[in-house]
Amino acid sequence: MKILLLIVAIATFTHFSIAQENSDGNTILDVLSNNGASKLHDMIINNPHHTSLIQYMSQTDGTEFTLFAPSDEAIDQSGLSQSNDNDYTDRFHYHMITDERLSTQDINKEQRLRNTTFIPKHGKNHHVPIMMGTSSEGVWSYGDKAKIIHGDIQASNGVVHIIDRVLNIPGSAEQVLRALPQTREFANKLSSLNMSLQLFTHATVFAPINEAIKRVDEMTKDPPTVVLTLNHLIVDKSFNATSIKNSNKVVDNHGMGFNVSHDDTHGAVINGVSILLPDQIYDDGLIHVTDGIVLRGGLDHPEADLPQPKDTSHAIAFTIPSFHILMTMISVLFFCCFCY
Ligand SMILES: *[C@@H]1O[C@H](CO)[C@@H](O)[C@H](O)[C@H]1NC(C)=O
Ligand SMILES: *[C@@H]1O[C@H](CO)[C@@H](O)[C@H](O)[C@H]1NC(C)=O
Ligand SMILES: *[C@@H]1O[C@H](CO)[C@@H](O)[C@H](O)[C@H]1NC(C)=O
Ligand SMILES: *[C@@H]1O[C@H](CO)[C@@H](O)[C@H](O)[C@H]1NC(C)=O
Repeated sequence: MKILLLIVAIATFTHFSIAQENSDGNTILDVLSNNGASKLHDMIINNPHHTSLIQYMSQTDGTEFTLFAPSDEAIDQSGLSQSNDNDYTDRFHYHMITDERLSTQDINKEQRLRNTTFIPKHGKNHHVPIMMGTSSEGVWSYGDKAKIIHGDIQASNGVVHIIDRVLNIPGSAEQVLRALPQTREFANKLSSLNMSLQLFTHATVFAPINEAIKRVDEMTKDPPTVVLTLNHLIVDKSFNATSIKNSNKVVDNHGMGFNVSHDDTHGAVINGVSILLPDQIYDDGLIHVTDGIVLRGGLDHPEADLPQPKDTSHAIAFTIPSFHILMTMISVLFFCCFCY
């Protein structure tokens, strides 16, 4: 009897060891349970909504994946429901990168923005993947970064890194500005002025922190001036933090923009304003949180304060034509929207 048990034990142990060593057959889904992400595994596997996701993650045709898998604790803290009523296909697609088996060494080497496998089916930029950021400090969409707590788990069709929080899928610029505690006042200001960022595509938003927005209120009450000033914070072209760091200006396709200088303490300084929180991702571009308001007029007038229409004839000359152009642009865009 004892010998029989021993044989069974040895057989079981041997079988287990072989299964452990031979990760060749284990996909990125299979390796989750033994590595602290069994809740994610079960939420994917047991939910009928996730059939196509399972197929996607089980591909063995040579496609390689990098999966950032929220740990069991991260799932508990996220508020994601483990019931089968919810479809998290998009959310989990957002945690994956295709065609790359990124090691933690690759990730730690440099800050990078990378396409995820989440491609929205609706919206103006359908078919364009939504990005995530990766760096030695972790991975992120916006706000706090998710840290890699257990990296480089190899699977047959990719690699898995266990992370300590669930990532949010980036929403519109307005939603992200509202979700970031530093830029809530900016979001409120935009909505109180009926300004929408929906008109911009692949844009870069230089979003001032709350304190800076309060200073605008103290300086001017003239809504057109405020609209113009805030409108200048949106550049209709995508500039990531790395490209700003390596460049001496930020200029859109119309030649409008800012000069950038560089110093050791503040990094990139745009017309005297520095970037506090770079590369916050929204569904159609990037947000850089700044410690002040970048004035586009500063490109020609370095000492310019907020544009003050009653101040000098120069300021009026600057304000009125630009505002006129802005209004024309808005009406043209509205017209286009209606045609569409
Ligand atoms: C930033 O943008 C530049 C130019 O568009 C691109 O070459 C580079 O790969 C991007 N860097 C990051 C961090 O994604
Ligand atoms: C992300 O995907 C878009 C659209 O497919 C592509 O134009 C862009 O170059 C990709 N970016 C990176 C960083 O791979
Ligand atoms: C914003 O729109 C609302 C409703 O259309 C209007 O009542 C309000 O006056 C507008 N505010 C500004 C600052 O234009
Ligand atoms: C911005 O840079 C351009 C080109 O170097 C220069 O001609 C211009 O004077 C600069 N403007 C400011 C405000 O520094």
